[in-house]
Amino acid sequence: MSDSVYRAPLGTHDVLAPESQRWADAVAAFADRARRFGYGLVVTPIFEHLEVFQRVGASTDVVRKEMYEFEDKGGRRLALRPEGTAPVVRAFVQHRPPVPWKVWYLAPHFRYERPQKGRYRQHWQLGAEVLGVDDPEVDVEVIALAHGFYRDLGLTRTRLLLNSMGDAESRPAYVAALRAYLLDHGAGFGDEFRARVEQNPLRVLDAKHEDWQDVIERAPQLTEYLSDDAVAHFERVQQGLASLGIEYELAPRLVRGFDYYTATTFEFVSDALDAAQNAVGGGGRYDQLAEDMGGPPTPGIGFGIGIERVLIACDAELGEERAAAPRIDVFVVDALGDGAATMLVAELREEGLAADRAYGGRSFKAQMKLADRSEARYVVMLGKREAEHDAVAVKDLRDPDGTQIEVLRRDVAGWLQARREAHRDDHR
Ligand code: HAM
Repeated sequence: MSDSVYRAPLGTHDVLAPESQRWADAVAAFADRARRFGYGLVVTPIFEHLEVFQRVGASTDVVRKEMYEFEDKGGRRLALRPEGTAPVVRAFVQHRPPVPWKVWYLAPHFRYERPQKGRYRQHWQLGAEVLGVDDPEVDVEVIALAHGFYRDLGLTRTRLLLNSMGDAESRPAYVAALRAYLLDHGAGFGDEFRARVEQNPLRVLDAKHEDWQDVIERAPQLTEYLSDDAVAHFERVQQGLASLGIEYELAPRLVRGFDYYTATTFEFVSDALDAAQNAVGGGGRYDQLAEDMGGPPTPGIGFGIGIERVLIACDAELGEERAAAPRIDVFVVDALGDGAATMLVAELREEGLAADRAYGGRSFKAQMKLADRSEARYVVMLGKREAEHDAVAVKDLRDPDGTQIEVLRRDVAGWLQARREAHRDDHR
């Protein structure tokens, strides 16, 4: 059997400590922001009936070639989640919760793509969706939620691209004009081009083919075909963003890769990433999708943010050092071996400190080595001499003089907490 069987499959990756701390911090920041915005967590299955995902569009890359589909032992046709909106809308249609239904999620996504940095076969998304309101204020709120999250992480080189895909009234005229233009100007581009144009000409606009780009550049633009209602909606979204001080760039060719989009669409791109994978998040309205899944007519809007890409952007902008938070406040080194260390570590943890220790009766020297490796700021040493007057020895590992001080055993948790607060203030 080849070695490679015991490696994460191509396009997937493990997330290990200490890097996983940044992952957890990003999720916590998003969860907190979503809570403050009034969004509740939704958890849907990792697989759904194939038809749920087919609703994202027969002409999309995800449905045509990237889906992890399978038949279960009962003969059901299922697929692993390639994107997060369809399952949330499926859950809405199934449960009919009161609207507005405001939800957020954290979920793994699966797409059979060509793996490269920032593009994986399994990636994770943080996302949010709002169902039941077509007020442009909701578009602004949803965009502000994502925008604030990037700010929470300290990202400053992220730009917001904004477009409108029009509504049921404006889209058909545009699609017809685009189809006619593309057939006219791309006659020599071959079968794939013609098939796309016939099935859904919008899918040509986001194609990566080099030789199609000139024709795409000069294609008619959706914004010229918007109905009065669609224009009014789009203008109110822009006014709302401006009133919150959120900068955006109009991007008339931003069509995004799913057929369900209507009206507002947006993407956040990071200038700290390679252009081919620079989208750190994207989303838009999908006002027909609930109805397409057999539900009542229900407008919806949301976005998905790729966690891996956001963390790559953090590395690029902030450096790996600053992006990572220290794991441990204090390491307890035990020279007594009488159970006192067990009690002290338990007490520190209950008091809210991150505390660790060595196991297996290691020598003092070996324990000090582990304390160093743990990157804890403080070492608390339980030694015989200090124990005689109910005290412990504490050492600040960042103190270049390496001085040790004695702290009364009963005061040590409070002392460490006070030091931790003081260091936090230093960093503010
Ligand atoms: P999406 O643009 O396909 O939208 O994906 C959202 C984000 O997930 C992207 O901006 C990117 O950061 C990340 N991402 C996508 N594919 C990969 C990949 N192969 N590897 C790493 N990261 C990736 C959606 O999925 C929609 N469901 C978003 C949405 C929600 N629209 C409305 N509501």
